[in-house]
Amino acid sequence: MKGKLITFEGIEGCGKSTQARLLAEYFERRGKEVFLTREPGGPQISEKIREILLSNENEEMLARTEVLLYAASRSQHTGEWIMPAMKDGKIVISDRYYDSTLAYQGAARKIDRKVIDSITRFATFDIKPEITILIDIPVETGLSRIKRKDADRLERESIDFHRKVRRAFLELAKEEERYIVIDGTRSIDAINKEIILRIEERIIP
Ligand code: TMP
Repeated sequence: MKGKLITFEGIEGCGKSTQARLLAEYFERRGKEVFLTREPGGPQISEKIREILLSNENEEMLARTEVLLYAASRSQHTGEWIMPAMKDGKIVISDRYYDSTLAYQGAARKIDRKVIDSITRFATFDIKPEITILIDIPVETGLSRIKRKDADRLERESIDFHRKVRRAFLELAKEEERYIVIDGTRSIDAINKEIILRIEERIIP
């Protein structure tokens, strides 16, 4: 496929959505065609699944149901939006992708890695990100940025749950060469500049 997939990952409140947008704007300024999107979400079906996943009304959701819904949202998103954009040669930037499933449903909810890998290959049509940017911050910092009363079903999980998620992302970053780890405690501008620098090192033509 001609295009490239760049993903952003991190715990709640790490600032990745802002950074994904700033990176998209940077590529656009350089005359590139960019497609900015997010998970869970994107096309209408995936956004509807997002609502089910994040609603506080669904507290009884089983971990198995959760992992399958994230995968269902991802398969529609990948097939309907990501693959066509990549075929068109666009730089696709996704705010979260399957590494979030490994961290949240794998490490924190204890779903077997082999099960996740298999569902993920199916849901993603085996598409992998070329670069993944992990915005790393302490859990306390991330959670303090979220308004408690507006917190969704996942954000309301315990501090220990979010610590497992952070640890899992850092482990993945060690395993996978595609990772760029960024210290997310600095200013928005400083983080944006470092991301651009580190991406340019990886040669985006
Ligand atoms: P967001 O807050 O970054 O939009 O993400 C929505 C929530 O969904 C967030 O709490 C992380 C969670 N999530 C998973 O648990 N598994 C996944 O595969 C994805 C994509 C997100």
